[in-house]
Amino acid sequence: MNLSFLRFGISCCRDKPILSEGKLDPMVSQDEIGPVYDKLSGIYDIWGRLTESRARDRAIELAAIEDGQDILRWLLESRFGGDAEYAKEYLDKLREVRDGVLNHRLKLGDGAVLLDVGAGDGLIGFGALDRLGPNGRVIFSDISRSRLDHCRSLAAQMTMSERCEFVEARAEDLRPIADDTVDAVTTRSVLIYVADKAAAFREFHRVLKPGGQISLFEPINRYGLDAWRFDVTPVSDLAQRLRDFYRRLQPPDSDPMLDFDEHGLVALCEATGFVDIHLALHIFVRPATRQPWDRVISIPGNPNIPSLGEAMAELFTPEEATRYETHVRPRVEAGHGVVREAVAYLAARKPEREAPTPLNAGLS
Ligand SMILES: C[S@@+](CC[C@H](N)C(=O)[O-])C[C@H]1O[C@@H](n2cnc3c(N)ncnc32)[C@H](O)[C@@H]1O
Repeated sequence: MNLSFLRFGISCCRDKPILSEGKLDPMVSQDEIGPVYDKLSGIYDIWGRLTESRARDRAIELAAIEDGQDILRWLLESRFGGDAEYAKEYLDKLREVRDGVLNHRLKLGDGAVLLDVGAGDGLIGFGALDRLGPNGRVIFSDISRSRLDHCRSLAAQMTMSERCEFVEARAEDLRPIADDTVDAVTTRSVLIYVADKAAAFREFHRVLKPGGQISLFEPINRYGLDAWRFDVTPVSDLAQRLRDFYRRLQPPDSDPMLDFDEHGLVALCEATGFVDIHLALHIFVRPATRQPWDRVISIPGNPNIPSLGEAMAELFTPEEATRYETHVRPRVEAGHGVVREAVAYLAARKPEREAPTPLNAGLS
């Protein structure tokens, strides 16, 4: 599984044209992209509800409606590399992860209340609505108001507003949600942004009813950290400088995206008081696929770091950049090498409340 779908980065440069000489220019500011991204991201949910062919039609339809908007077109094309197969692969993987979270030991009876923490575009939350039955409810929580507004508007479009609530809150501080009130807590790719993961687990535990369940998905980014994707011997000096640069920005022992593994997740879960803990670790060691060089240098590995192109511009002289590209680009474009990735699905349950000791216990 290629986890590049977990990330999305935008370069900032206001004064550059979006379209230059008929070619799409990826240098668009975050301000310009934000609202359009919110609009586009609804496709995930639409994809979840439609068959593949209808979803493909829907994506084309959306692109056509917005044809006059260069940014949307840019976004569609850059996000998916203008490649319908890549778009399908990308969205299929999101759907697979969503189903993995929602099917992992979760018992969602009709009328259940599910809290999706870090709901983002609503991938998990809207998927849950289908499974909760007509009386089930979903609380979408996120630190991003714009993401919540986006989910609110999707819920209205789906005429599901009365089954949805929207709460602006951090995973580590879910105070707007009362103790013992939800049946399930889900989260996907959110703990990687949370420094105090123990606090997040405590909050999940607090808001769950006794017997309530958590189901979460996180990439285990430490896995394969020291491996090279392909032989970099001829440019090992440059490759090492790039690696050191990214390690300084995200030190593996302290950065929230890297400072945990599957054992750490289980330990946190247990220390919080959860029981029936089950973690499924999926490790993927697979041949690399062919990637367009432009995509590889312009899309950062995650939203907190610069893209490869930006890092090369910062670290390398023009000659070094050419030497690096001359070696690496053909291998990237030909799909040489091995990709190593790991992801974890974690499910657990809050214990039932202990039955109060009967007053006459011990008396016969
Ligand atoms: C990679 S997105 C995942 C979105 C969604 N869970 C999904 O499956 O598509 C990460 C989300 O976590 C949210 N987020 C980041 N830090 C957070 C925090 N400390 N508490 C709650 N949400 C957070 C972001 O606003 C973003 O919506």
